[in-house]
Order: sequence, then C-alpha cells, then structure tokens
Amino acid sequence: MQYSLLKEQYENHYTQNQNRSAEQSRRMTMLKGLASTIGIRDTPLFQLLLFSKIKNYIRFITLRQIYKNFEDVRNMTVGFMHPNIFHSFMNLGVQLEMVEQESHLYRLRESYMVEEDMVSRLVRMESSNYSNTVASILEDYLFVTEAIEAKPSSKLGRIMNQQAYIYMKEVLTYLQEINQLNFFEQITPSFTEDFYTDLGELAFNIYTKENYQQYISQKQFASILDIGCGNGNYIDIHINHSAHIVGVERQEKVYEKLQQKYRDYPHIQLFQEDILDIEFNQEFDMINMSYMLFYLTVEEKEALFNKLKKILGKNGIIVICQYYPDFEVYQELIARYNGKWGLMNRYKFDICNSILAAEVVLNNMLVDFAQAEEWEPFLQLIESCGFEVEEIVPADETYYSYFITIKHKSGGSDDKGYRD
Ligand SMILES: C[S@@+](CC[C@H](N)C(=O)[O-])C[C@H]1O[C@@H](n2cnc3c(N)ncnc32)[C@H](O)[C@@H]1O
Repeated sequence: MQYSLLKEQYENHYTQNQNRSAEQSRRMTMLKGLASTIGIRDTPLFQLLLFSKIKNYIRFITLRQIYKNFEDVRNMTVGFMHPNIFHSFMNLGVQLEMVEQESHLYRLRESYMVEEDMVSRLVRMESSNYSNTVASILEDYLFVTEAIEAKPSSKLGRIMNQQAYIYMKEVLTYLQEINQLNFFEQITPSFTEDFYTDLGELAFNIYTKENYQQYISQKQFASILDIGCGNGNYIDIHINHSAHIVGVERQEKVYEKLQQKYRDYPHIQLFQEDILDIEFNQEFDMINMSYMLFYLTVEEKEALFNKLKKILGKNGIIVICQYYPDFEVYQELIARYNGKWGLMNRYKFDICNSILAAEVVLNNMLVDFAQAEEWEPFLQLIESCGFEVEEIVPADETYYSYFITIKHKSGGSDDKGYRD
C-alpha cells in the first residue's frame, strides 16, 4: 500500500479495537470449544487449539514476572528500572489486557490478582487455589510448555514436529527467555547469537519468501547491498537476477557458512564486518535490511542512514523487513485495504500481536540487541537523514512484519559524494 494513502487514512482513522474482541467472539468461542473437545489429535483443529492457548501462555509468563518484580501490583512505576525493558513489558501487559495504564502508572487488572499467600506458589509455577482466570492461564501455560517440550516419539511430539508447527515451537520456546527477565539490566540469553539467524531463516522460508518474491517481481536491481545478510535468504532470491550483490555479516560463524555457500558465485561479494565500520566506493540500486535494525543504538542507526544516503543510487530503494509494536492501527488500515479484516484474520492478528509484544520485550532485555524498533522514532530518524517511506506491504499472512520501502526524499540528488 502506498504510504501517502496509508498516512492519509491514518490521520482520519478512529480505532475500533475489533481484533481484540475477536478472542471473545461467539464464533471463535464455539470453534475453540470444538478444538478442545477433539483435543490432541492430528487434525487441522489442533492448530486452533494450540493457537487459542498462546495468549494465555504469554499471560502467565507476564503475570509471574509482575508478581516476582513488583510489590504493589496496583501501582507499578519505572523507578530505577531500565526504561526500555519496563515500558515494553508494560506494553505487553496492556496488549494482553492484563494491565491498565494511567499516565506513568500501571495497574494489574482485578481478575489477575493473586492472594498474598499464593504469590510464592505462582512464582514457582505451582498450582494453587487461584481464581478461575489465573488457574486457566496457568493451565494453558503448562499445555503449551508440554507441547514444545514433547518427546518426538510421543503423540504430541509427532504433531509438534510437523512443518506447520516447527516455527511456532521455536518461537514459543524463545519467549520462555522472558522467564529470566531482569528489569534493571539486559541479560545474556541461554543460546548463542546464530540462533536468531537460523530462526530468521526458518521464518523466511515458511512465511516471508513467497511474499518477498511477489513484492519484488516487478522490480529490477543491478546492484544490491544486503546488510546483516544472515544465511543469505534474500541473496538467494536475487542471485540470478542481479549483476552484483554485496552481503555484509558480522558474525564469524555465519560468515564462514556464507562463504562456503556462495563460493561458485563471483558476482556475490561478502564481507565479515560491522556495517558501521565498512566504507563503499560505489552506489547500490537496492539496499536490504531484514530484522537487523534492533542491533543498533539510535546514534548508530543515524550514522548508518547517513552512510546509506551516500551509497543509495538516485532512484534506488532501501527495503526493510521489520515488525513494530506501535503498528496496530496501520495493521488494521492495511488489512481493510487488502480485504483481510474478517473474524479469522483479526483473531490471528491479535494472537500474533501478543507474540510480537513479547518479542519486543526480548529485543530490549537481551544483550544481543541494542533496543527494540518502534515505528514513530524510526520514521523521524529516516526523515531527518533525508529519506521518505514510499510503500508498506505485509511480509507475511499474519501481518506481523512488513516490507518498508524507503527512497531519497524529493528524488535525491545526483551528487551524493560517496567518495568524500
Ligand atoms: C536476525 S538475523 C536476520 C538475517 C537476514 N537478514 C534474514 O532476514 O534472514 C540479523 C543478522 O544481522 C547481523 N548483524 C547484526 N548487526 C550487524 C552489524 N552491525 N553489521 C553486520 N551484520 C550485523 C547478525 O549477525 C544476524 O546474522
């Protein structure tokens, strides 16, 4: 969708917040009831059963962290906590409809409150005489945990190892890192950095690849720069259509795999470097950055976009594939425009938005990242560096991530002085 049209609609929109109510709609409740009667069987309804438990799975992780970290759950404020971690966590609570915000103060909703003598049991993830709401989120948490940990030889494990569930299983496992959340400082995750590169590859093949192929089908690029190219998912798509492709990847292990993969392709040039340290003396028609901006601080991003200003050709484009927590209104507008705002889609978007809000917490709480991406600050940053957004297209069926097309503001200039 052209950004100019989206912006115009955004300025005139009024929020209906319909996708949240999709969770409680009569039709969804009936379908979920049916899925739960059929239970753990290899039928299409199992996907709905698992899906219907995801929000509660994240809710339990969230509730446990609230009780672990805040003495007064009616009055949660940032205090000396890390602001990005605190705010993205509270945003997750609001997204899950567990937390209410009143200016700088956050309050846990009554239905999620736990009696004082049961708090330590809740933090230990043990059952107790909780309210129905809390008991049901714990039950769903345990169900999802059992599903992601199920032995491959078990009935549940066999279902979960199917292609349709592999990515979901990885993501739900990843979200369990929030169980280690520290509100005061970023922590080291329990996996190595190439985990994200491999998770990205899985997501790309399942959800993004076809959309990307369609998205670029009418476009031709003679030269491409792929920043943070990971395992080369995007390079693969362009490999036979572009004369010169440059991939930059700072991780040694990932870079070595890339070198091996493209050893017979002289038109692909690879650099094992940090994009901030590398200088180019050429221009590119297209610059790709997929799930990579959250590795950089605001200052680093500014330096990067100033660098890109010099090396992006006059009519060139930057394509960013990214998710944003403050994007729900745009999601609705784009979905309505594309005729994808039916009940089932709204239900799917809502669950995925909860996963997204949790992923944003991870982008803030783990040392591997600088800070989560947010749409409004991002927009301001690129505009201040002389760029503008041209188009926004969903990168997957769940409207989780988007391809953001950026170009030089007012057509750019012929002399960008990249040889300075
Ligand atoms: C989440 S992965 C995504 C990979 C690929 N773009 C994709 O979408 O499949 C991000 C990659 O960016 C790399 N990266 C992060 N910061 C970087 C930097 N400053 N310079 C170069 N590479 C970077 C990481 O090592 C990682 O492999």
